[in-house]
Amino acid sequence: MASPTPEQLRFILESGILAPSADNHHLMRFDVRDDILELRYTGGSLPEAGGYKRVLAMLSLGAVSENLTVAASRFAIQADLALFPDPLRPDLILRVNWQPGSVAVDPLWEEISRRHTNRSVFFRGPPMSHEDRSVIERAATHVSGSHLEWLEAPKLKPPSLKLIRLAEGERFRNRLLHEELFSNIRFDVGWQHTCEEGLPPAALGIERPLRHAFAWLRHWPLMRLLNLVGGYWFLGWRAADLPCRLAPHLGLIAVDQGNDHAVFAAGRSFQRVWLAVTRLGLALQPMPASALFSFPGAIQEGIPKPLQQHLSRGWQAILPNRQPVMLFRIGRADSPATTTGRMPLQHYAPEFEYYAP
Ligand SMILES: Cc1cc2nc3c(=O)[nH]c(=O)nc-3n(C[C@H](O)[C@H](O)[C@H](O)COP(=O)(O)O)c2cc1C
Repeated sequence: MASPTPEQLRFILESGILAPSADNHHLMRFDVRDDILELRYTGGSLPEAGGYKRVLAMLSLGAVSENLTVAASRFAIQADLALFPDPLRPDLILRVNWQPGSVAVDPLWEEISRRHTNRSVFFRGPPMSHEDRSVIERAATHVSGSHLEWLEAPKLKPPSLKLIRLAEGERFRNRLLHEELFSNIRFDVGWQHTCEEGLPPAALGIERPLRHAFAWLRHWPLMRLLNLVGGYWFLGWRAADLPCRLAPHLGLIAVDQGNDHAVFAAGRSFQRVWLAVTRLGLALQPMPASALFSFPGAIQEGIPKPLQQHLSRGWQAILPNRQPVMLFRIGRADSPATTTGRMPLQHYAPEFEYYAP
């Protein structure tokens, strides 16, 4: 059996790096060896298990691996994935064995380059048809190990919005999270351009008249002053509560237990949902903070204990015996004028030599 040709492999790897990642940082390298592909984590040691940073990393890597799988299917190649295949190499996240000629073409491959985060405040209706919703649900269950839940029912939406607002507000109230948030925004590229890593300000969906004021918020002394009069509350409402409230759909991916395998599967599932949403011509924005900060290990990462406990209890009441890992809103919106870029493939696969277009 033959492996992917160099042209096919280039397409597959480029599809991998088009996957979403937390703050547009792919902390990974591809090693192409004989008939296999290995994916290494390059952010040092993986963050501590049980904390939200580990969840962010595993969700992102899951999304990359799903793009690899879907892209390989374009050539009828099955990607057999082994997660953490070598206990002696903890940075080795994934080993992919290719099985040519053994899988049906997955039409979602066409959506890989079209998918983007849409941060417009207003996601319009009308709501999805029953059939469209089923398409998304099927996309989610294609990978087992996680669950897709809808939160727009009148009993579920108000309590969910409250948790979402609290968590997103904390990103402006807490000095550590504020630093984390703003250090990933590339103010250096201005409001017209994109960038290969990090978040270009123009992709943040901030209305023109508010851009100047938003840029000032990166200064902690000013933010702290505004917080004395509830600045964080307003920003949590504007950044998350309002957009989710207006969106016709609010979804959630949850796992039974928040271990690496389950969260990785959730990342794959989430990516399939996003590709299916894109195929239906709909927009999506991830909003995972309220789920992430409810992880017990989040306390060691700077989330105040009362907030972690409040979020954990809140989600338990909404979704008993499940751990939410990713929240998102879906609706109709114009495509964003500016989207994030990516580093060239050479950056992620320095030893892969086939770069001809
Ligand atoms: C695990 C994960 C968490 C994310 N969290 C957020 C978030 O809190 N808010 C947001 O607007 N986008 C979030 N995103 C979207 C990323 O910022 C986005 O995927 C990245 O900047 C690349 O841009 P693209 O999706 O347009 O390709 C998240 C994506 C992933 C995979």
